Amino acid sequence: MEHTLTQVKNYADLTPAELRALVDPMRLPRHMAIIMDGNGRWAARRGLPRIAGHRKGMEVVREVVTACSRLHVPALTLYAFSTENWKRPPLEVSVLMSLLTLYLRQELSLMKRDNIRFSTIGRVEDLPPEARAWIERAKAETAGNTGMVLDLALSYGGRWEIIDAVKKIAADMKAGNIEPDALDEKIFSGYLDTRYMPELDLVIRTSGEQRISNFLLWQTAYAELYFTEALWPDFTERDLLVAILDYQGRQRRFGKTSEQLGS
Ligand code: FPP
Repeated sequence: MEHTLTQVKNYADLTPAELRALVDPMRLPRHMAIIMDGNGRWAARRGLPRIAGHRKGMEVVREVVTACSRLHVPALTLYAFSTENWKRPPLEVSVLMSLLTLYLRQELSLMKRDNIRFSTIGRVEDLPPEARAWIERAKAETAGNTGMVLDLALSYGGRWEIIDAVKKIAADMKAGNIEPDALDEKIFSGYLDTRYMPELDLVIRTSGEQRISNFLLWQTAYAELYFTEALWPDFTERDLLVAILDYQGRQRRFGKTSEQLGS
């Protein structure tokens, strides 16, 4: 059976392979970011401890990374741990750090196989030594890879990222390296953690919450937002493909009119 995006109203009837065939490879988001929310609720609904939700969430990370890499999405940022997450109970923080280490230990060989380059944003220096060591190792061993960039946001906060950029710019101005009048969006972006990443095109948030939660505040300026009711541990490749198809069905005007865009 052949489908086109306009013919298909109900993706629920299609298999992942059929959905994959509908994705336009020329119009993939250059940079996709995901707020992986709902691990705790997933566990609570099953009478399990919250950490069981994080563990299942880690398996979903693996599935989504592989699917994005196979679609040739250029860059994927996952909100794995926010600056605010340090306020969670110490046991949960410690489990999340152990899962991060476990993930990198298990996935490094797959990243190498799939030509994925590993990167991070956020205050990685705040993380425990073992996690930091694996982060450095994964970065070093995938530095030459040319496929998808997998970027984990770790101890990351958007406001902090902007303040940090402002501090660096102020220092450069004081040192005479930048004239205040020369500062523009391009130069400012060059001081953010995401300076080597492509423009952010699509942000997905799971679990029905419709907030940005201090994630990529500067970068979301023109991004498309996609919210799904699915809890992160229930999120599947099918959900990912539906989000990308929804994105591809939108008209992005960047402040212009439809007529100016010629459609
Ligand atoms: C939000 O769910 C999720 C997090 C704070 C952490 C995300 C972590 C993972 C997906 C697992 C590990 C990831 C890697 C990359 C190894 P929540 O706990 O806020 O859920 P709730 O809102 O239902 O309580």
